[in-house]
Amino acid sequence: MKTHSTRTPVNPHYASRSRAGPIAAPAPTVQYVKLPLAPRNASPVPHLTSLYHNPDPGRYGKRSYPGNCGGNLIRDLLRYYQPTTVLDPMTGSGTCRDVCTDLGLLCWSSDLHEQVDACSPNSFPRERFDFCWLHPPYWRQKLYTEDPRDLSRTETLEAFLVRYQKLIENCAAGLVPGGRMAILMGDYSDRESGFVPLVYHTKRLAFEAGLRQCCTDIVRFSHGASSNRKVYRSAFIPGLHDVCTVFEKPSQ
Ligand SMILES: C[S@@+](CC[C@H](N)C(=O)[O-])C[C@H]1O[C@@H](n2cnc3c(N)ncnc32)[C@H](O)[C@@H]1O
Repeated sequence: MKTHSTRTPVNPHYASRSRAGPIAAPAPTVQYVKLPLAPRNASPVPHLTSLYHNPDPGRYGKRSYPGNCGGNLIRDLLRYYQPTTVLDPMTGSGTCRDVCTDLGLLCWSSDLHEQVDACSPNSFPRERFDFCWLHPPYWRQKLYTEDPRDLSRTETLEAFLVRYQKLIENCAAGLVPGGRMAILMGDYSDRESGFVPLVYHTKRLAFEAGLRQCCTDIVRFSHGASSNRKVYRSAFIPGLHDVCTVFEKPSQ
């Protein structure tokens, strides 16, 4: 099976040259970053800010599942928005479902692995959910199933975006008026397509579906990404985050 390279990446130290010759690669070090202080406010989840860093994935889902995301961000969003019904149509290893069980929330959880195509309008009820957690494939960065309906199996970017548009419209139709949809997406690149700004396309498609963004972008630090351990010959600026964007369906 043809697989595609993961994010372009690198250790620039191995690839760079200065006039003085190659730059020696320094030994890897752990870096500590001083984050800006957040203003105090009435949020029930004060540590939920535009910069999300939680190296602890929480006890939700399975870390070994490809593309698994830690459940703590989902838990924090649910505690902030306080929905009672949640749609989780690309559940993977069930991370969102497990968070909902923990918080005592009703959750519709499905995946193409169970033959439920989230892009099909008949897959789940309409105007039923207060909140949707959507964590789609970052196009072909990881392949999930052999099913041709799988977003990660779309051959071209255009074909991916057509399916992605259907997915967003479909999930928006599942929300009650005033409901929220959080989409976690990362930009993608490979040799064939170059840099593909999937976070931009996410917003464009969501706006076209009639949704509005209702809070700051949440930049999630990619702790524990498998590409961190690779060494690349090419030079590039590594992407160390993905972005969670929260949208709202207008009340009328
Ligand atoms: C990034 S993974 C989600 C991982 C999940 N958040 C977790 O923590 O385990 C994307 C999921 O989308 C599913 N998927 C891809 N295309 C789909 C489709 N058309 N309908 C439903 N699920 C789909 C894949 O099977 C995969 O489980």
